[in-house]
Amino acid sequence: MALRRKLIAGNWKMNGLRADGIGLARAIAEHARIGNPACDLLVCPPATLVVPVGEAIAGSGVALGGQDCAPAEKGAFTGDISAEMLKDAGCSYVIVGHSERRHGHGESDDEVRAKVAAAWRAGLVAILCVGETRAEREAGREVVVVNRQLAGSIPGTATADKLVIAYEPVWAIGTGLVPTPADVNAVHHSIRSVIPQGARILYGGSVNPKNCGELLSLDEVDGALIGGASLKADDFWAIAEACR
Ligand code: PGA
Repeated sequence: MALRRKLIAGNWKMNGLRADGIGLARAIAEHARIGNPACDLLVCPPATLVVPVGEAIAGSGVALGGQDCAPAEKGAFTGDISAEMLKDAGCSYVIVGHSERRHGHGESDDEVRAKVAAAWRAGLVAILCVGETRAEREAGREVVVVNRQLAGSIPGTATADKLVIAYEPVWAIGTGLVPTPADVNAVHHSIRSVIPQGARILYGGSVNPKNCGELLSLDEVDGALIGGASLKADDFWAIAEACR
């Protein structure tokens, strides 16, 4: 089996003014420079900080990503940011279809698919988020829901090098709740059967330095997408170290 190098990705969400973001980025870059990470590292700051964070991590090996992108390349879309703009600002990844976009901004699978296509048009790797709600989990529908999201959100031209899936149960995001290792492995296993061979599948939802060891040791888990714990450089690095 080809070894998939793990990816540890920080989703900073709408957190951080300049000083905080640059400080956090510098601290992560410093860990990466001296620590010889055993995984790929990625930080996704808010759009206002993409450029200064890019400067702060330059040469450290830590990659830069956006948290969302518009489907269109340019034009009259007030407030939106295109994938080309993220690429131009130094990004190599973009998160799309995060549950806070799907549920908070009403994004449909069609819209998410257009965003994934936009990411690829600009030469970015898309981190496509999928995951069931608590009610869907309680009804035992997690695999059905995730498969429907995957079918609706992945363009036909997918290849392993430009697609990362993040399985993030909505009920696990920011709540401290985490599915059992067996449940995570089962959903990842099902995802694996419908995506290009070799594509990475991250787990996301309340990953922290305490629970990361068990999650990252699972066969089907190729890394983590981390919200809260990515805002502390030492915690983020501790999670990266669990890949060793
Ligand atoms: P969390 O967020 O780690 O704070 O649960 C994860 C995410 O939303 O990507």
